[in-house]
Amino acid sequence: MSAVLVAYCLLFVPGATAAVEVNATVGQSVVLPCALVTAAPVDLKKLRFYWQDEGNYVLYSFNEGKERPEHVNELYRGRIAAFPEHMSGGNVSVKVKNVTLGDNQKLFQVFAAVFDSGGTRRYSLKHMEICQIAVHVAVPFKSVRLAVNDATRAAACTAHTGFPKPLVKWRLQHLFNNSLHLLDQGGVHTTTVQDPKDQLYSFSSTINIPGGRYESVTCVVDNPTLNVTVTATHVLNTGEAQRSPPGWAVGLMVAAVVLRA
Ligand SMILES: *[C@@H]1O[C@H](CO)[C@@H](O)[C@H](O)[C@H]1NC(C)=O
Ligand SMILES: *[C@@H]1O[C@H](CO)[C@@H](O)[C@H](O)[C@H]1NC(C)=O
Ligand SMILES: *[C@@H]1O[C@H](CO)[C@@H](O)[C@H](O)[C@H]1NC(C)=O
Ligand SMILES: *[C@@H]1O[C@H](CO)[C@@H](O)[C@H](O)[C@H]1NC(C)=O
Ligand SMILES: *[C@@H]1O[C@H](CO)[C@@H](O)[C@H](O)[C@H]1NC(C)=O
Repeated sequence: MSAVLVAYCLLFVPGATAAVEVNATVGQSVVLPCALVTAAPVDLKKLRFYWQDEGNYVLYSFNEGKERPEHVNELYRGRIAAFPEHMSGGNVSVKVKNVTLGDNQKLFQVFAAVFDSGGTRRYSLKHMEICQIAVHVAVPFKSVRLAVNDATRAAACTAHTGFPKPLVKWRLQHLFNNSLHLLDQGGVHTTTVQDPKDQLYSFSSTINIPGGRYESVTCVVDNPTLNVTVTATHVLNTGEAQRSPPGWAVGLMVAAVVLRA
């Protein structure tokens, strides 16, 4: 009865749903989530599932109670672990260790089957696709350098070895009311280069700080994949005596990683 129910429920797991997106950082680990919808705990001896990428290379294979490392492609060997302690609850997620840029933009699929009880070779869950995971990989820009010439009011912001291509913006802070002003992209000149060997980006972005009294200039670098922003701020020397705002420091160069929580 319960096996019939399980099979019935599973018929409503659409095979071609939109992929779940998972974003990861190079060198770190990431869990690719996938759950088998079951009404009752799965007997691992009756479970078969495998993960493969869009080129049909196998990441992980499990059949009738055992891992099958011999089916795993060398691209993934030694890097993938499942969670056997959670499998009977239908959790067939895997963890990818040491994520590389080679994993970027891959589409992973999970196929699963559950054999009928009673030792027959029939399935209670027919072999079918149960999950699709799209992976985006990023390398954060570690330090953003900002150089400002207070006399010419030219500012240059640079950073190296990040991925993907960054979005660079500039922010100015008004001296008297502290309000922030995002510089129009028309006044921003950004050159980005990608290293053909490691695929990493470097950029240089320059502006001329417009007239008006500004207290500070900030270069804002967004990583669209990690949803992380790195900034560098320079406090402008306006060449006249001023009241000292909190945190004042002449010529200060700050690089701060702001995780938008
Ligand atoms: C499966 O187990 C892993 C490891 O404990 C956990 O990170 C993940 O959230 C679980 N996934 C589901 C769908 O329960
Ligand atoms: C992670 O992968 C990189 C590139 O393939 C390799 O150089 C490095 O040794 C790996 N690190 C670990 C801990 O496996
Ligand atoms: C702050 O001052 C600048 C320059 O006087 C002005 O353009 C801007 O609108 C002011 N912002 C606010 C929020 O008052
Ligand atoms: C994951 O990365 C993709 C590609 O850069 C991006 O479009 C998406 O917004 C990111 N998702 C999150 C949750 O940051
Ligand atoms: C990025 O982070 C901000 C701040 O937490 C959040 O509001 C936004 O939804 C996130 N973007 C994505 C694509 O997840």
